[in-house]
Amino acid sequence: MKALILSGGKGTRLRPITHTSAKQLVPVANKPILFYGIEAIKAAGITDIGIVVGETKEEIKAAVGDGSKWKAKITYIEQEEPLGLAHAVKISQDFIGKDCFVMFLGDNLIKDGITSLVKEFQKNSPNAQILLAHVPHPEQFGVAELKNDKVVKLVEKPKEPKSDLALVGVYMFDKNIFTAVNNIKPSWRNELEITDAIQYLIDHDFNVHPHIINGWWKDTGKLDDILEANRIILETMQTKVEGKIDNKSKLEGKVVIEKGAEIINSVIRGPVIIGKESKIVNSYIGPFTSVYFGVTIENSEIEHSIILENSKITDIKRIEDSLVGQNAEILKSKSKPLAYRIMVGDSSRVEVL
Ligand code: DAU
Repeated sequence: MKALILSGGKGTRLRPITHTSAKQLVPVANKPILFYGIEAIKAAGITDIGIVVGETKEEIKAAVGDGSKWKAKITYIEQEEPLGLAHAVKISQDFIGKDCFVMFLGDNLIKDGITSLVKEFQKNSPNAQILLAHVPHPEQFGVAELKNDKVVKLVEKPKEPKSDLALVGVYMFDKNIFTAVNNIKPSWRNELEITDAIQYLIDHDFNVHPHIINGWWKDTGKLDDILEANRIILETMQTKVEGKIDNKSKLEGKVVIEKGAEIINSVIRGPVIIGKESKIVNSYIGPFTSVYFGVTIENSEIEHSIILENSKITDIKRIEDSLVGQNAEILKSKSKPLAYRIMVGDSSRVEVL
């Protein structure tokens, strides 16, 4: 069995972060989202992994490499334009060959992994296995309608959903999916939809097995979802302190301080992770915060946030519910007239007091 991870696409809902980097590489608890997917696939015993990449291909290749970090073999498949999930499958036919495969959306996180789901697929050998989850806003997903435990209809982001069962971004297919993706037409948004391809299988009497998952799952396409993922993953960590803590600082709860990090005269209230070579001085870092590497935080309070690499935050009373991009600087204005002086990227959002 092989795996196909979809890591192309545009990431419009996470701008401005995704103007400059891939949404699949945003770190959750200091690990890129994409790496959780690779680990879940590897844990299920699959080592032959194709990754579909688009305009952020260089960045993804630099982060993932040849897969040896995970003892896996990675093949990159270039998609010229994000023409849909089924299009990504179509261009991967040479890589997949006649094998069965797991398709994993690179921005999805499944806390319990996929090992038992892959086993179930291998045992029952349906033509396709889809995962479904009850969600409060099904209109934001592909939605499934079941009758007597069988899938009868799949609709992509319906205005009036017929159920609250969303398609989770992990699918298992045998070779018949290629007949389906080669026979469907682009949707109203000009994408070849995987929901239409699976509907093709249903309409042509192939066996499409639905599995409703109850564990935690997230499509991390939006800020709130990334913060929630960060919360859930941070809670699963074990305390590990490898950096330097001075005797005026206090660590409370589950805290990970990575190598080379320094905590000076500060309170760190977990769950929190502080990345390599980051420096926290005279500050409070509150629950559910991930500080990536090379960050400096001075005379500030931060809670429930993700701070990306090499950023600098100085003299800020309080930051909450935020995602701060790479190399960003947030500081208190000292010059007159007293005013907000900002240079924010396109499509940014800043809330001020
Ligand atoms: O997360 C689950 C949802 O994922 C499902 O419920 C939907 O049925 C499914 O269509 C998909 O919806 P999204 O709108 O969230 O898909 P998105 O455009 O975010 O793409 C998902 C991943 O696939 C993401 O990592 C980018 C990648 N991708 C996307 C497209 C359109 C590609 O690699 N190539 C593409 O052409």
